[in-house]
Amino acid sequence: MTVALDLNVRPMCDEDIDAVAQLLQDTFDGWPKVPTSAAPIDHLRWKLGEGRPGHRSHFVAEIDGRIIAFQLNLHWYMKVGDQVLEVRRGGDAGVHPDYQGKGVMSIMRPAMHERFEVVPDMFLGASTHAAINRLYAKEDRRKFAHRWLVYIRPLTLGAALKTFKIRRGRPRKKLVASFRKLARWMDMGMRSPFALRPETGIAIHTAPSFDERIDGFCEDALTPFDFASIRTKELLNWRFADARAGQFTIRMATEAGRIVGYSVLRIANGRGHIADLVVQPNRSVVTNALARDAIAELRPRVSTIECWLFDNSPYLPPLEACGFVGTRHRRQLSYEAVGVAVEEVEFLSGKSIRAHLSLGDMDWV
Ligand SMILES: CC(C)(COP(=O)(O)OP(=O)(O)OC[C@H]1O[C@@H](n2cnc3c(N)ncnc32)[C@H](O)[C@@H]1OP(=O)(O)O)[C@@H](O)C(=O)NCCC(=O)NCCS
Repeated sequence: MTVALDLNVRPMCDEDIDAVAQLLQDTFDGWPKVPTSAAPIDHLRWKLGEGRPGHRSHFVAEIDGRIIAFQLNLHWYMKVGDQVLEVRRGGDAGVHPDYQGKGVMSIMRPAMHERFEVVPDMFLGASTHAAINRLYAKEDRRKFAHRWLVYIRPLTLGAALKTFKIRRGRPRKKLVASFRKLARWMDMGMRSPFALRPETGIAIHTAPSFDERIDGFCEDALTPFDFASIRTKELLNWRFADARAGQFTIRMATEAGRIVGYSVLRIANGRGHIADLVVQPNRSVVTNALARDAIAELRPRVSTIECWLFDNSPYLPPLEACGFVGTRHRRQLSYEAVGVAVEEVEFLSGKSIRAHLSLGDMDWV
């Protein structure tokens, strides 16, 4: 239902920060939604992009001078085919509970899109909220053909039973398939103690942050992909090594002293996550070593590990070899050409593209 609203949509300014922090807490029933020891206001300052490269254009909407809605917009540099584009990703779209379902976001989105200080080349979204998807449907959104899926590695018998859906009442035929998966999982646990295999020559250590070598490594590592966030030391340290974001563990894989891959691990809501994973091209052995390392690191503290990957990711086979299994849980990624012609980016809807997107590219961990 849309009612007549005297809404003022404008860019957020520094003075709005307390009101926005309060609005987010009222709207999301507690905020931040990710575990962090930082105060909400400090987490918000971080999330708004303090200490991060790239443009930002956050907006508020007010009625009678009171802020009742907020939308965060960060620009990311992304490799899209052979171009580097500025891609806007939104977050924390929130309307005060008193005003939800009254058309606020329907008014705010187009008003905001017209007023970006720097017009992004493209929008990217992956929301599951029904209202946001209704709004996407009214925009010129296109979908990625490939599925962006959750892969799970159960670490305990209880988690394995749940993952493989071994439960009373399940049809016999499905149950047989589930028991086969369980047997494979148990066999894998017996055969492979999940520590690093010393014969690979790969060493993995925890790094407090990323250093200058990471830019060149990532540029090389992301060459096989048609779509990926450009990773730099500044961006990665803002995302994963700033205490206001929460606690992440950076696991750096080296071979003869050179970086050959890294993972970023995170525990959130009782579950282990591989928040980021980047590996030298065609080095399944490194992906496998990082997956085994993640299992060894997280096993004492959680019962499952979650890793989000496209269903045609080159990282998938080595992860599956370590016992990660695909689930039905997925997000539909959508994009909209804004500052570029749609012809330049619509190949993203094709089946042959290779996209790299990690959980840490979003704000869910
Ligand atoms: C999601 C949210 C931002 C939407 O803003 P809003 O101002 O309430 O949305 P609108 O009233 O403009 O509605 C937009 C469309 O979604 C529909 N809609 C609104 N609320 C809905 C709901 N809860 N479920 C399904 N559809 C909904 C509306 O009918 C409208 O579609 P229509 O134009 O085809 O009729 C707001 O509801 C909110 O802040 N929710 C809590 C926080 C949240 O979950 N944010 C999203 C995740 S980042």
